[in-house]
Amino acid sequence: MSGIPHDHYEPKTGFEKWLHSRLPIVGLVYDTIMIPTPKNLNWMWIWGIVLAFCLVLQIVTGIVLAMHYTPHVDLAFASVEHIMRDVNGGHMLRYLHANGASLFFIAVYIHIFRGLYYGSYKAPREVTWIIGMLIYLAMMATAFMGYVLPWGQMSFWGATVITGLFGAIPFIGESIQHWLLGGPAVDNATLNRFFSLHYLLPFVIAALVAIHIWAFHTTGNGNPTGVEVRRGSKEEAEKDTLPFWPYFVIKDLFALAVVLLVFFAIVGFMPNYLGEPDNYIEANPLATPAHIVPEWYFLPFYAILRAFTADVWVVQLANWVSFGIIDAKFFGVIAMFGAIAVMALVPWLDTSSMRSGRFRPMFKWWFALLVIDFLVLMWGGSRPTTGIYPIISLIGAAYWFGYFLVILPLLGVFEKPDTPPATIEDDFNAHYGHH
Ligand code: HEM
Repeated sequence: MSGIPHDHYEPKTGFEKWLHSRLPIVGLVYDTIMIPTPKNLNWMWIWGIVLAFCLVLQIVTGIVLAMHYTPHVDLAFASVEHIMRDVNGGHMLRYLHANGASLFFIAVYIHIFRGLYYGSYKAPREVTWIIGMLIYLAMMATAFMGYVLPWGQMSFWGATVITGLFGAIPFIGESIQHWLLGGPAVDNATLNRFFSLHYLLPFVIAALVAIHIWAFHTTGNGNPTGVEVRRGSKEEAEKDTLPFWPYFVIKDLFALAVVLLVFFAIVGFMPNYLGEPDNYIEANPLATPAHIVPEWYFLPFYAILRAFTADVWVVQLANWVSFGIIDAKFFGVIAMFGAIAVMALVPWLDTSSMRSGRFRPMFKWWFALLVIDFLVLMWGGSRPTTGIYPIISLIGAAYWFGYFLVILPLLGVFEKPDTPPATIEDDFNAHYGHH
């Protein structure tokens, strides 16, 4: 594909020729799994397969869970208990699905930070990146709505807090919130539509994943050096690549097995480790829990949401220039969505001509700080809003925006990159010896 010469599917038998001239589907599959892949890919390139596994796992377990679940405020909590106690293998299905969501997010965060380090988002892979960001948004929406379904205390209050954010939008916020919930508060209408959308969205994600794969099969995969596959001749291209099957399939399956070893140990032995005890209490609109905390994968952005309180000067400035329309709550909402927006725009914010972070001596340190920042924000999001915590979150939020909006644009100007290897073949030989 895309000028990388390799052997395409040739129909051989009479039936293959008959089908190929009517529907070239075997050729499509063949060309997809035989795609020439840079042979120097490291272990950071396995997470896409882990993600694909997670999507299938969530859909399969989710469909069976839906057979036994009841989306009604009076029955939802009990139906989940029924799944846990009465349905054959029900507790396993539920724990696979709940912890599967966590594995999905671990994999997606590593996948995203891999992209940020190796400059995978840079031309010509911007569309792969943008589709990835849409997948990420859809994943967050799906996980958020899924968490509401068991109708526990955290389900209810999490939904109330997060949908309340839409209420912070000036003028039209309350109408939007009302429309989203299907009523003035989180109630049966909300639960029903969340169930419907929670079932739908994974299939939207599946379609986006197909486009994601189509996009990076069009450009070819990136690789840790950021040096492109030579496309001058078939011989050169073949020295830089190996076909995806069997080389990368075997490697990815091995990596998936190692990841699943840890995953199944958690599902089997500590399935509630990442859970919230309050969610084993049925939703009660009259009793607010002491701490409303989202699932771990939302915490960094939750921290950014809460960091901008009314005593922060940028918030006061925004309030003043907008004649009071932008208050602290709305500012927090803008900051939270803005934090994701700046990440989506990174292909156009990073001005460096060097793709891979491996050859960017200054970038490396700022990137390491970004990873630490993300973890600090995650921790900050789980803390109460008193004492030193909001200040730590505010510094974390400032660095997040500073990295994308100031540091990345400037680094491209001031940094002198190292010299990358001339070819992928050279890099491969340097790492794995001459074969
Ligand atoms: C369901 C979720 C996703 C699935 C199944 C998925 C799948 C894949 C696969 C199989 C690859 C090939 C190489 C690899 O494994 O790294 C890939 C590459 C890539 N993904 Fe994703 N992805 C997902 C989400 C995302 C997200 C959220 C982003 C971030 C914006 C993203 C950005 C990228 C980029 C830039 C590449 C190209 C890297 C390269 O080829 O060097 N992906 N993805």
